[in-house]
Amino acid sequence: MMTFRILILGGTTEAREFAARLAGREDLAVTLSMAGRTVNPVVQPVPVRIGGFRGPEGLADFLRESRTDLLVDATHPFAARISANASAAAAAAKVPLLVIQRPEWKQTTGDHWTFADSIPAAVAALGERPRRVFVTLGRQELKPLEAAPQHHYVIRSVDPVEPRVDVPHAEYILDRGPFELAREKTLLEGARIDAIIAKNSGGSAAYAKIEAARMLGIPVFLVRRPAAPQGSAAGSVDEALARLDHLLKPPAERGE
Ligand SMILES: NC(=O)c1ccc[n+]([C@@H]2O[C@H](COP(=O)([O-])OP(=O)(O)OC[C@H]3O[C@@H](n4cnc5c(N)ncnc54)[C@H](OP(=O)(O)O)[C@@H]3O)[C@@H](O)[C@H]2O)c1
Repeated sequence: MMTFRILILGGTTEAREFAARLAGREDLAVTLSMAGRTVNPVVQPVPVRIGGFRGPEGLADFLRESRTDLLVDATHPFAARISANASAAAAAAKVPLLVIQRPEWKQTTGDHWTFADSIPAAVAALGERPRRVFVTLGRQELKPLEAAPQHHYVIRSVDPVEPRVDVPHAEYILDRGPFELAREKTLLEGARIDAIIAKNSGGSAAYAKIEAARMLGIPVFLVRRPAAPQGSAAGSVDEALARLDHLLKPPAERGE
């Protein structure tokens, strides 16, 4: 039987789920690629390679050398660079690209959202009055908080924030999703949070804080996504699986 080689660019719940759904298939050889940002990444259902490829050319070389048949971009919606690299590398190496991108969260009744185009803009939108702000931006993107030192920040991240954010009032929580509504509500109430600053990541793993904010009437300062990767993305793992067999066919049979 012919084996198709699939490289999944991951670092997300979707990438892990997609890999898990393919792991049992004997017609596929699946590798999951991680950037290597997380100190203790969760165990993955397929072989993993870790670290950058050195730009789009490096990724294109990797695709050729590994004789990859399909590249899957299942990276986070805010990981714009790797998605652009994936698109360029797939075109250069003539490898089909399947993008999985979860839909963004949509505002609903009871949500008090302020949208911002960047993290600095979201921090500025918090205003002059000191607030108690719950922060879930990722530990490498906290520098803009230093422009608004009047607030008290409660910062949650998977790995420790080093160096600490240079503001007078900050506390740090280490935790990894998925997060559950009752616990998020308890956290927000216990820390007397009156604003949340977050990315519009979409998906279910991080949504509980948004629901808890709605229940408690807490305003959310939401950073809009960067431009989506080119081409039409599968919005879910199920949709990606449905597209997979079609994409694995030779180009002539795909009608291209
Ligand atoms: N940004 C977020 O908010 C966020 C949230 C949750 C998870 N993540 C995950 O964390 C990782 C890094 O995100 P980021 O925002 O720093 O990415 P990014 O800014 O788009 O990419 C920066 C560089 O990191 C390397 N890289 C990123 N993802 C990779 C992968 N899956 N495998 C191998 N190399 C990868 C690439 O290096 P080279 O150019 O050397 O190839 C890329 O140019 C991604 O896997 C992403 O899915 C990101």
